[in-house]
Amino acid sequence: MTWNTSIAARILKVNHGGEHGAICIYSAQIVAARFRAPDLLPFLNEALVHERSHRARFRSLMPSRQGKPCRMMWIWAVGGAGLGLISGALGREAILACTEAVERTVHRHLDDQIRWSSLRDEELCSAIEGIQIEEQEHIRYAATHRSGHGFAWLESTIGHATETLIWLSTRGDSTRLARQLATDAVV
Ligand SMILES: [Fe+2]
Ligand SMILES: [Fe+2]
Repeated sequence: MTWNTSIAARILKVNHGGEHGAICIYSAQIVAARFRAPDLLPFLNEALVHERSHRARFRSLMPSRQGKPCRMMWIWAVGGAGLGLISGALGREAILACTEAVERTVHRHLDDQIRWSSLRDEELCSAIEGIQIEEQEHIRYAATHRSGHGFAWLESTIGHATETLIWLSTRGDSTRLARQLATDAVV
């Protein structure tokens, strides 16, 4: 496995796990939103379709890069369903605060990955760029449909929880990977 292939495999592993987490968040929110925020259902259902296609896209890029899904996918499932159910139970504003917090955290990781892959792996780079456009739509929807900055505490807790999930599922590799992406991108 070459150095670039190994980094690409690690990018795919964390992204694939993250998309699985996003699927679990939106699925749980859809259940809660039926009672708490029915007006959000069209957005949540559309976002769920996007996240499923993102997970499949990252999975499809794994074999040619000797990549494998994360062994701790259950962490994403439990964490995602937990975030989805708690935010869903708190209602409309909390659901949107959760979406904005998770998607902004993901967005930062994708930015680093695009910078790294743009010079090394064209196929991976264009996949991430395409997916990032849809993630941006999720952020934009959440930001423009919130009625204020309520649930700022929830937003910041969820931002940290997402980083922790990413860190736990990669057993700390996400921190080393981010450092390597930042170093390699300027070389
Ligand atoms: Fe996604
Ligand atoms: Fe998303």
